[in-house]
Amino acid sequence: MIQRPRGTRDLLPPEVRLWQAVEGVARDVFSAFGADEIRTPVFEATELFVRSVGETTDIVHKEMYTFPDRKGRSLTLRPEGTAGVARAWIENGLSDRTHPLRLYYLGPMFRYERAQHGRYRQFSQIGLEVIGADTPLADAEVLAAMHEFFLRLGFDDLVIHLNNLGDPEDRVRYQEALRTALAPRRSELCSDCQRRLDENPLRILDCKVPSCQAVAAKAPAMDDVAGEASRQHVLQVEEQLARLGIPFVRNPRLVRGLDYYLRTVFEVISPKLGENTVLCGGGRYDRLIADLGGPAIPGVGFAIGEDRLIKVLPAAFREAVLAKSRLYLVPLGAAAQGQVLELARSWVREGVPVEVEVSGRSLKAALKRADREGFRAVAMLGEDELRAGSVSVRELTAGSQISVPVAALPGWWHKLIAGPVGKH
Ligand code: HAM
Repeated sequence: MIQRPRGTRDLLPPEVRLWQAVEGVARDVFSAFGADEIRTPVFEATELFVRSVGETTDIVHKEMYTFPDRKGRSLTLRPEGTAGVARAWIENGLSDRTHPLRLYYLGPMFRYERAQHGRYRQFSQIGLEVIGADTPLADAEVLAAMHEFFLRLGFDDLVIHLNNLGDPEDRVRYQEALRTALAPRRSELCSDCQRRLDENPLRILDCKVPSCQAVAAKAPAMDDVAGEASRQHVLQVEEQLARLGIPFVRNPRLVRGLDYYLRTVFEVISPKLGENTVLCGGGRYDRLIADLGGPAIPGVGFAIGEDRLIKVLPAAFREAVLAKSRLYLVPLGAAAQGQVLELARSWVREGVPVEVEVSGRSLKAALKRADREGFRAVAMLGEDELRAGSVSVRELTAGSQISVPVAALPGWWHKLIAGPVGKH
């Protein structure tokens, strides 16, 4: 038997309905905040990620799916979405459009990570980027859109962690401060962090190995080294959040696993996932587009891990989506078989989701199936019904059976599902 590659998943019904529902909410909320969707390729030139995400990050260092194409060009399956959006922005001359441009995206990303709980090699992100505004207000707007999305799904237990990563000039000083502080404890660090100490000590703060986290806990904070401009910037973002009643905590150890960030960075933690399995990450990246050869245009955004989001989805949202509100239409006898599809089509056109019994089940077997699979109602079409131009409908939760004229069925159905049970 050929099996799916390690770290990938098949999304099966009915769970896939949750994905569709969540994606629908994302589209609704982000477009209400003025964003449009962007779709970029799933693979890009390898160089794009090396230059944006950063050579010394784990993603580029050991997690990319990189391969030569038939002409020997090095391509990489995208490990994240921001670099592709920035490349598309430059390549399509989007700087000519009115600023800022708000763009959202949904889709698969690829990282060769150790497959484990909540960590996949193909996973999906839902992201939002606001390109062309450098104000704290833009950061706060992005966070507000994110918060609104989570609220819409019914979350009430998420925690936003926020930090100031300083400006690139501050970063050089901070790297030095970290190197000086951590060098005497080199032997307590994992082998990766010993390398990071020389290459990019900031990454040590992001290491998940407990002994490294213990060392990192004593390291100086970026905000102590950062210049006034970035500190003021992040302070103003915090003021905006406070005004909106969006709770957050300042986390001085938050550095993120990608190199393009400066100033505001944030992550969203769910108590159901644990601190090391982040639900959403983002921040400001004002030099990214220039570093990729474009104009000096600032940006800010985030991406939510959709696989993880589905895992911790609030029960009420999950149940509402999964409650099967479909009508099961059962033809009884040859004459009904001849009419049933036409009838189903006319109801479908009026917005009734109809599943026709096409495998010839007896009425008894069909009713048993309807019960087992949680259908809301069964419509039966036999010879008497055909003659009367009606169907016999059994509402399964109530157990009642009535006769409804064929033309009146859509109205009856819409009233039924608008009621207190099965509403979503
Ligand atoms: P990131 O923190 O690398 O940021 O990824 C964002 C989210 O993707 C994570 O918080 C997590 O939920 C999910 N994720 C990452 N790796 C995996 C995995 N192996 N399995 C399952 N889920 C995963 C970025 O990618 C940035 N591009 C975010 C951003 C947008 N910053 C500014 N704009």
